[in-house]
Amino acid sequence: MKVLVVGGGGREHAIVWKLSQSPRVAKLYCAPGNGGIASLAECVNIKATDLEGIAAFAKENQIDLTVVAPDDPLAMGMVDRLEVEGLCAFGPRKAAAELESSKVFAKQFMKKYGIPSAKYEAFDRYEDAVSYLAQSQFPIVIKADGLALGKGVVIAFSLEEGITAVKEMMLDRKFGDAGKRVLIEEFLTGPEVSILAFTDGNTFVPMVSSQDHKRAYDNDEGPNTGGMGAFSPSRYYTPEIAQYVEKNIIEPTIRGMREEGRTFQGVIYFGLMLTPSGPKVLEYNARFGDPETQVVLPRLKTDLLEIMEAVIEKRLNQVRIQWDDRAAVCVVLASAGYPGSYRKGLPIEINTDCLIFHAGTKRTEHGLVTDGGRVLGVTALGENVEDCVRKVYEHIKSIHFEGMHYRRDIGRK
Ligand SMILES: Nc1ncnc2c1ncn2[C@@H]1O[C@H](COP(=O)(O)OP(=O)(O)O)[C@@H](O)[C@H]1O
Ligand SMILES: [Mg+2]
Repeated sequence: MKVLVVGGGGREHAIVWKLSQSPRVAKLYCAPGNGGIASLAECVNIKATDLEGIAAFAKENQIDLTVVAPDDPLAMGMVDRLEVEGLCAFGPRKAAAELESSKVFAKQFMKKYGIPSAKYEAFDRYEDAVSYLAQSQFPIVIKADGLALGKGVVIAFSLEEGITAVKEMMLDRKFGDAGKRVLIEEFLTGPEVSILAFTDGNTFVPMVSSQDHKRAYDNDEGPNTGGMGAFSPSRYYTPEIAQYVEKNIIEPTIRGMREEGRTFQGVIYFGLMLTPSGPKVLEYNARFGDPETQVVLPRLKTDLLEIMEAVIEKRLNQVRIQWDDRAAVCVVLASAGYPGSYRKGLPIEINTDCLIFHAGTKRTEHGLVTDGGRVLGVTALGENVEDCVRKVYEHIKSIHFEGMHYRRDIGRK
């Protein structure tokens, strides 16, 4: 089979790496891919958000399966677009992807189906949001409705901070139309766990649990990033909690989407907070998470292609999905300055053969160079998380680029 993966970050490298192990994959393409993906797939220079370009390429090259990995093309309806051409695509259609692309939709949905989540109010007028804030307790959480590159959530500790956040989103349009509407949410506390699940709209199969580290520096200090590392499993996600989550969160979500006429087929991500009053959903993603995928897929023993086909053909109940008992840890090596501005094109030296998922790299005639804020995700499997941590940091000693920075406390939450 010929398979095309859309995207070009660490998550897509992990997906391509896993698909490349399938005996039934004859040829892999990735659009646009990156310097690491290039060793496993033919990278084609089409943007992940170019619906027409991807559809034309898939048609011309008789691609048997297109895997749409990032949030933007899913929200734009890339899967629907491919299906119009009679092409086979993995990922939710636009109407199902709205679970991620509109936080207001997600909250209304959860309320309707009794799925535990923070209390909220939604606003499309600045004045109303401000008067609501004026009679609220702090801290409180303010969220832009739409996709905002993971930057659209502010925890406001005072009325003043709250008003600033609402003004930046609604009036200054810091995130464009994504901030046209905002949510103001109850502030919850507790450890955060990420749960991914495969679903064909009827059956769902949860993957192994994971946790990510979003802040730039050790001890969860500094600005938010796309993710500085992840580990799997989470020690907080006990079998009892898993059972509760499957019954009260995952099952009603999959059923509710079906009842809404928005059957969800693909990978669904539950961002959970384990609060003193039970697990609650912070958000949904309509796809594999990054960097969680880099620790979850290395633990998957079953052929990913088979699972994806079963999801599309709605026969996931016939597949037995198996997991490696070992733990996994991924540490992200970032460019100096990230998540602010950073230089690109710096040579990368790698003197280890461990598992590395490239996030922002490029192959040039002078060798591998940096090409993004997050550059590499160094990954290890081991007996437990501590064992993986030891291995990963040992491998990192053999990797170098100018200004390379990374957290030293991944896996220690
Ligand atoms: N209701 C809440 N209470 C406390 N913290 C929250 C709440 N909602 C979100 N957060 C924090 O903000 C982060 C980002 O929020 P999330 O809803 O996941 O949006 P996104 O990933 O799109 O930025 C969460 O990982 C969590 O740490
Ligand atoms: Mg999130």
